[in-house]
Amino acid sequence: MASTLITGISELWTLDPTLDDPETPHGVCDSQMLRSAALVIEDGVIAWTGAASDAPSADDRVDVGGRAVLPGWVDSHSHLVFDGDRAAEFEARMAGESYSAGGIGVTTEATRSASDEHLRALVRGRIAEATAGGTTTLETKTGYGLTVEHETQAAALLSALIAEGELDEATFLGAHLVPAEFDGRDGRPGAEDYVDLVSGEMLAAVAPHVRWIDVFCEEGAFDPAQSERVLRSGAAAGLGLRVHGNQLGRSGGVALATELGAASVDHVNHLASADIEALAATASRPTAAGERPGLLAVDSGPTVATVLPACDLSTRAPLAPARELLDAGAAVAIASNCNPGTSYTSSMSFCVTTAVLQMHLTLAEALFAATRGGALALRRTDVGHLGIGARADLHVLDATAAIHLAYRPGMPLTHQVWRSGVRSS
Ligand code: NIG
Repeated sequence: MASTLITGISELWTLDPTLDDPETPHGVCDSQMLRSAALVIEDGVIAWTGAASDAPSADDRVDVGGRAVLPGWVDSHSHLVFDGDRAAEFEARMAGESYSAGGIGVTTEATRSASDEHLRALVRGRIAEATAGGTTTLETKTGYGLTVEHETQAAALLSALIAEGELDEATFLGAHLVPAEFDGRDGRPGAEDYVDLVSGEMLAAVAPHVRWIDVFCEEGAFDPAQSERVLRSGAAAGLGLRVHGNQLGRSGGVALATELGAASVDHVNHLASADIEALAATASRPTAAGERPGLLAVDSGPTVATVLPACDLSTRAPLAPARELLDAGAAVAIASNCNPGTSYTSSMSFCVTTAVLQMHLTLAEALFAATRGGALALRRTDVGHLGIGARADLHVLDATAAIHLAYRPGMPLTHQVWRSGVRSS
């Protein structure tokens, strides 16, 4: 077994779940961050962590020169399968236009005309960009195909990337927007007809490639009844549930997600206190083991409130109330929502910085939400921390302390990234 000892660590944020303090369920306690530390990687997983003075010997040794080491970011929400560009839409928004779901149609048109090879190259390039910024676990969605053929093409591309070890989680988002060709078809409202397709033939074709189903429950996309139909059919096919909810208004997405036991509801910009309470009430739902080590059952555990700080800035939306959610006891994740319409960045460091500076999270809370929070939203126990047995995914900062992420906003603070014990940058 090949082993590597990493030394010269000024701060080691293990976030080791075996040291969780029940008093701070979604935060970091002192024993989960070691100073003057070292760690050992063996066969791609963490084999030892502790004080540098107690470090055992190993086959190789890497000195990171007095830098802080975090678990790699876990980005639980992205839309990387797309072609085309919406810079003009963004520019108009910065000049005062507001965001609407309809822009998805522009990307759908461009994505449908892209070849398999071209889409694959685009997605791989975007994954490489995310990794270079410290992201080591990544979820991404279909949702810019919106026909059986194109959604299956996107899902097959994602499952191939997962099989090749480049990506971690794939989600079916056929219910992203009702495509233009469904308007008024057969004299029925287009949305109902399209919901039939998404929950029937499209789901059957896509389900073998994905672990999750998602729906955009929002004015201009799918109402709560339609969203429920999509989610229930996904659950019947064995998929875990995710919801885009309460982004543009109080859409009913949070109520639906908490009622149906979704793993995550994402955006959450418009919340009444009842929504915050409903999310907090799910925090005590127990998790159950999943189909293999490192995975939890998709239909167990809390509904995580996933906030998307870069999207909030890029759409000039009210910031999601992450502080209030944490104070109420809800589980919170931070994700990038990288997509061409509302958040064209995969920089989780930027999202963490924004969560600290603008959403009033402490650095420790933001780090936890962008690692362990994302892992919980994806029902994974093998990533998001550096406890013994975790995947050796390291984000080495070019700083002595992690607080530099917020103290030096926008600076290039990613020094090295390791995924499964292999250094990628
Ligand atoms: O998560 N809200 C829905 N989906 C994406 C935006 C998609 C787009 O506008 O292209 C999001 O923000």
